[in-house]
Amino acid sequence: MENQIKIDCFLNTKEISPDPGLFEFVTPKVMQSVIEFHKTIPHYKPTPLVELKSLARFLGTKTIWVKDESRRFDLNAFKVLGASYAMAKAVCRELGEKEDILNFTRFLTASDRVGDLTFVTATDGNHGRAVAWTAKKFGSKAVAYMPKGTSSARLQAIHALGANAGIIDGNYDDAVALAQKTALENNWVLVQDTAFEGYEHIPEYIMQGYSTLISEVMSQTDDTLPTHVFAQAGVGSFAAAVMASLYHHSAKKPRPKFVVVEPRNAACVLKSAAAKQGCPLTVEGELKTIMAGLACGTPSMSAWAILKAGTDAFISCSDEVARRGMRVLGNPMGKDQRIISGESGAVCLGLVHELMSNPEYQDIKDQLSLDKNARILVFSTEGDTDPEHYREVVWNLK
Ligand SMILES: Cc1ncc(COP(=O)(O)O)c(C=O)c1O
Repeated sequence: MENQIKIDCFLNTKEISPDPGLFEFVTPKVMQSVIEFHKTIPHYKPTPLVELKSLARFLGTKTIWVKDESRRFDLNAFKVLGASYAMAKAVCRELGEKEDILNFTRFLTASDRVGDLTFVTATDGNHGRAVAWTAKKFGSKAVAYMPKGTSSARLQAIHALGANAGIIDGNYDDAVALAQKTALENNWVLVQDTAFEGYEHIPEYIMQGYSTLISEVMSQTDDTLPTHVFAQAGVGSFAAAVMASLYHHSAKKPRPKFVVVEPRNAACVLKSAAAKQGCPLTVEGELKTIMAGLACGTPSMSAWAILKAGTDAFISCSDEVARRGMRVLGNPMGKDQRIISGESGAVCLGLVHELMSNPEYQDIKDQLSLDKNARILVFSTEGDTDPEHYREVVWNLK
């Protein structure tokens, strides 16, 4: 087990002024209609935005906000924001209905034709669980392919929702290829959270779905913008959605610095940025990391276009950074609230902790102006989605 903190950073030293056209898919109007849709899902409520005041004081910064996605419905992760919206859009298409005003409850009572639909996806766990959850609500079927090494807890969570899920002998990218192939062969609806040539609509709906996170954050901070946003990336759709949604809020204000965070063994976004070729590159092999949700070998084509234009720093982290984040969030200081954060959820807070407390990283902090005035926003994108491993880490059993 790699138990050392290791961080690699690629700083974007060029002036950052992304083409606004890149962010047009999440205008304020779109964001409003997306959150209105999410509000129609029974039991919707915004997840907490937790301010860790004692930790911020301890680390010498102004504010640390953590958006706690372990409280997203009963799913322990943020992913359903994307899957529910994209699947509602897809069903409208299948039924030949207008797509502009969506209401989740409409699909709960939809005609038999929805029941005939099968949704298929590749997943490290959370996205597949979200697809299975939504399919079950719609009365349709779901199939999920998971990469080698997937924990049985994550597989079981999808089975429990009635989906046909299985672990393949290949990595995440192989699972995506298989999902695409079986969708074509069987006329299933592919609900993938990564875009590639010829497959852009659903991933865009998924990113639009994620914009609700920022709609919620901005009302929770009374429109106070963070100065720094740390967003973890698997294929990059989540980070790109956060960046794009924030863009419209920061139009006439100083733009928050944006840091994309990945596991060292699956740092495909960092690799693509550092190569400076402009195109997304692939990390091959097993992509071994405890951050299962981030173990992706190829950036989403659409997300990459956004991230390469607007990211200030691309950082990769060893697993120990995620473990640090899980422990810090699970054992808070002073009156700070406890947050149960899983491996992929905790890495950004672990990174913030390391950057702020280790003088070795003064350079990165200077470059990013990470100082006593910083208002830092991180997302704990999942709770203990693998409860046994969560306990092993937090109790330091292995
Ligand atoms: C918990 C968690 N956080 C972050 C991500 C990253 O999202 P993306 O693959 O869109 O970069 C995932 C992806 O599955 C995830 O499960």
